[in-house]
Amino acid sequence: MKLINKFVTGLEVPGTRQFSNKVALYDNCIDLTLGQSGFAPADYIKDAMIRAISEDQLRYTHNKGLLELRQAVSDDIYRRLGVRYDAETEILMTNGGSEAIDDVLRTIINPDDEVLLPVPTYLGYEPVIKLLGAKTVYVDTTQTGFVPTPEAVTAAITDKTKAIIFNYPTNPTGVTYTYDQIQALADALSETSIFIITDEIYSENVYDAPHHSFMEFKDVRNQLFVVSGLSKSHAITGARVGYVLAPEALMEHVTTVHLYNSICVATPMQYGAISALNHGQEDVTKMNDAYIERRNYLYDRLIGMGLPVIKPQGAFYIFPDISAYSNDSFQFANDLIEQEQLAVVPGKSFSDLGEGYIRLSFACTMEEIIEACDRLERFLNHYQQ
Ligand SMILES: Cc1ncc(COP(=O)(O)O)c(C=O)c1O
Repeated sequence: MKLINKFVTGLEVPGTRQFSNKVALYDNCIDLTLGQSGFAPADYIKDAMIRAISEDQLRYTHNKGLLELRQAVSDDIYRRLGVRYDAETEILMTNGGSEAIDDVLRTIINPDDEVLLPVPTYLGYEPVIKLLGAKTVYVDTTQTGFVPTPEAVTAAITDKTKAIIFNYPTNPTGVTYTYDQIQALADALSETSIFIITDEIYSENVYDAPHHSFMEFKDVRNQLFVVSGLSKSHAITGARVGYVLAPEALMEHVTTVHLYNSICVATPMQYGAISALNHGQEDVTKMNDAYIERRNYLYDRLIGMGLPVIKPQGAFYIFPDISAYSNDSFQFANDLIEQEQLAVVPGKSFSDLGEGYIRLSFACTMEEIIEACDRLERFLNHYQQ
């Protein structure tokens, strides 16, 4: 395939997709591969989108997004973290968190740069890094509760390191970082000239303590890109509304990349997002209450099955260690779907350091979780690789 970009031919379909695509092949499959809320979006979000269409709001907006929406994002961040990002100059609306990641990486990465990735982590970063001809350097978090330490991060920095990408609450582990852990990382990184990219798309989905952010640490603000969005928090993955927060000087460049990418986010979706941010807090809390109940049940059952697992504090995933049964998580997940019609994501999808784990999502109904646990327990009772 000589005509195709050499970096594209090396990319694979993500493990999440591979297994969610298999669900349709079975009559009675339970799908715990979901990366999105099972709740219906609120009427005030849908009504705002529909109203925008009826009122002919189908023209381009400002490249950065409607100012009213950027102001709503700014107010939301201030309400949650007490930090102000300027709506005019420091906020850019993107097509989901995905475009936010792509825009930021394309703004800063040169071929042969190195990007540090604490792993296991979301599988959407490494392909973009590869497409830019750059290299990913893993920072192993498996021995430190899935949270990178400042020592491990600084040990991985070379003169080629351009950036580090944090994601917390973390997909796939459900672990999040405490204020003190973030402070220690911020202190270490403020001494360096590398960029910090922090993907906080699950920041509204936290269960035991308030979310904290690198945004709270002034010393890193000039090297910080924050990626986030409304997909997960407001159950609107299909609306494609995300954003980047960055200092003005960096944001000008990200905006240029974004405008050549997509010009702006679909206008009716921007109106829906304004309504979500202005009215949605109560619903976020309600959804989180349901996730807590599901998380607690799933965690207790996994512990009962003897699987080592960390109780998730955020996102809607849990990441049990299945290494006592198998060190081939793809084989394990294949056998599980074939024998019990239960779809999960192999840990190896989240880097080689995710091998020996599987990811289960609890963004589905309680009935599905109960049935899934029964099936997993039965499977483990006789499973031999
Ligand atoms: C950590 C993380 N970042 C970004 C995304 C992409 O979000 P969006 O649907 O808003 O593009 C996902 C989706 O699963 C995710 O898990």
